[in-house]
Amino acid sequence: MVQPLKILFCAAEVSPLAKVGGLADVVGSLPKALAKLGHDVRIVMPHYSLIDEKAHPTVIVDKPFTMPSIRQPERVTIQSTVLNGNLPVYLIKNNTYFARPSVYGEADDLERFIFFSNAALTLPQMLNWQPDIIHCHDWHTAITILGAHKLASPSATVFTVHNLAYQGAFDYPFLVFSGLREDFQMGNQIFQRLPLNMMALGILYSDMVTTVSQTYAQEILTPEFGVGLEPLLNYRKDQLQGIVNGIDYSEFDPATDTLIAANYDSTRLWRKAVNKIALQKRAGLTQDEHIPLIGMVTRLDEQKGFDILEKALDSILKDTNAQLVVLGKGREIYHQLMQKVASQYPDRVAVIIAFDNPLAHLIYAGADLFLMPSRFEPCGLGQMIAMRYGTIPIVRRTGGLAETVPDLSTDLETGRGFVFESYDSDALVQAIKRAVAAFPRKEAWHQVILRIMQADFSWEASAKKYEAVYERAINHHQNKAEVKAN
Ligand code: GLC
Repeated sequence: MVQPLKILFCAAEVSPLAKVGGLADVVGSLPKALAKLGHDVRIVMPHYSLIDEKAHPTVIVDKPFTMPSIRQPERVTIQSTVLNGNLPVYLIKNNTYFARPSVYGEADDLERFIFFSNAALTLPQMLNWQPDIIHCHDWHTAITILGAHKLASPSATVFTVHNLAYQGAFDYPFLVFSGLREDFQMGNQIFQRLPLNMMALGILYSDMVTTVSQTYAQEILTPEFGVGLEPLLNYRKDQLQGIVNGIDYSEFDPATDTLIAANYDSTRLWRKAVNKIALQKRAGLTQDEHIPLIGMVTRLDEQKGFDILEKALDSILKDTNAQLVVLGKGREIYHQLMQKVASQYPDRVAVIIAFDNPLAHLIYAGADLFLMPSRFEPCGLGQMIAMRYGTIPIVRRTGGLAETVPDLSTDLETGRGFVFESYDSDALVQAIKRAVAAFPRKEAWHQVILRIMQADFSWEASAKKYEAVYERAINHHQNKAEVKAN
């Protein structure tokens, strides 16, 4: 057992306080697993006005203070709340940057998260609590890593890449305006020429870099997946590690889930069908247990495969009898496309453009199949949640999907899902046809459901791997300090 560590998580979104995507789920659940292993874990995030303070009452940690920012000094108040009974969450409150309902998508996101990252660094002193590890997530918190480096903080740092496609990129005028020019010059002395984005700083200055599956950790070293950061990632390769995410077993459990129509486990599987009928009803589809129902809970964009799905829809609807339910938000062109198809096939296709957590749970429970045709997928949580609910995934072999969903053999005796290889609509259609053809084979299908429901996607194993990463980060940090001192 590793010694109990003090660990500070920094992130832009944390479930259930503010959630846009999988990042929030991870930052909301990995700390719980680490706390269970005996560590003192705390979280810091911005105080957005969308946070429901009735559901999560907060207290003020200390008197407000003033902090320098790019434009002018800003007032900061730090409030705190507690998750799960033992996880303190510190909320950085500031009217200029966070008194808004949205997490991202504001014109000044770069400024907002630079401010947040710097404010997070004031916590150890204010709390008189020096973490052993500062664990930052995605580009929004890269400046915390840079700051810890510049301040020669005693904390070792870990930077986790959840999605390399979002880097916090900017142009030269912003580099000058933000005051980061010297930091990039310092970076250029260590590594050739840093690309102008936040993520590069997080990758360069952290003691350890991790990403959310082993496969993605390999993929991002190549030009196809590296999004321009592959040279820098190769430079840090010895400190780069992939650890697959887990899912929160207390939130996603068909036996106890209060958001679904009927609870079930592997001994009461017939009750899964109650959820299917409830879902068909809710989505306005033909209510029939014998029609294969495919679910998607997703962002509607290219990463998630909507460009190949667009071309595949015609064949899926003409050559199979499958139904399709899609829940999520994303690019307007895909909202319109899917809504058009839903209006052409009202009994077979339903599209709900929204974030709707109860409906998401009903889809995980009620669908027969769960589709993720991603172009790339650092980890992906939906496929793991679906499997816990006995819903068989159809996925492309990439990133975390490749790692968590081995292909079902043609006789369905090994594997967990229907996997396709090349990123094109034909390969996608073939995988869906294989799934639909296998669906009537009740006995074999049943065995697959039992197998995937028993697979372990809990955080336990991965939390232990993070412990090992933290130890390596602490060693790396000590070595760095020694090199400096000599
Ligand atoms: C990002 C990735 C997704 C991953 C999630 C949590 O949203 O796109 O693959 O599961 O982060 O790490």
